[in-house]
Amino acid sequence: MVQVVLPNDANPLGFILGGSVMHLIDIAGAIACHRHTRTLLVTAAVDGLQFLHPIKVGDLIILKARVTAAWNTSLEVEVEVFSEETLTGVRRMTSRAFLTFVSIDQEGRHVPIPPLIVETEAEKRKAAEAEKRRAERLKARKELEARCR
Ligand SMILES: CC(C)(COP(=O)(O)OP(=O)(O)OC[C@H]1O[C@@H](n2cnc3c(N)ncnc32)[C@H](O)[C@@H]1OP(=O)(O)O)[C@@H](O)C(=O)NCCC(=O)NCCS
Repeated sequence: MVQVVLPNDANPLGFILGGSVMHLIDIAGAIACHRHTRTLLVTAAVDGLQFLHPIKVGDLIILKARVTAAWNTSLEVEVEVFSEETLTGVRRMTSRAFLTFVSIDQEGRHVPIPPLIVETEAEKRKAAEAEKRRAERLKARKELEARCR
């Protein structure tokens, strides 16, 4: 997904707002997941997000999203964010995020999703790493639920 950063998305310094980047990450991740599941989805979790470099008004923001693992009704997507200077073409990675989406129907019931076919060594490595992140996320969710009781 590619967009030009417009003044409406920016803070007074002329850099895109963190919240605007988060919105685009959510959209790019959801599109990749929709293409895998062809179902309705909700965002269940977003892993720790960092902003390495600002992206200024007039530059391009580029988001690359790829499903890394699919389980029963949930799946993980990796979203990488880059800036590209319009006048020079210089591209820098600015953020990376892992999001989990859960597949649901119109009544909000969870819907099983197709498995992800992992073929290359890189895909297998990413899927194995996703298993570890999922365990951490579910542990974090349990802890939060216990605190909210
Ligand atoms: C996310 C949500 C659907 C989970 O529903 P739930 O009934 O509590 O979840 P369950 O324990 O039955 O888990 C369902 C699946 O979601 C996964 N899941 C749930 N919470 C998760 C989390 N925090 N991180 C990772 N995966 C999670 C489970 O592992 C399970 O996956 P699986 O079927 O592939 O094994 C529910 O909490 C919800 O609707 N949250 C609000 C979502 C929302 O409003 N998002 C923003 C707007 S889209």
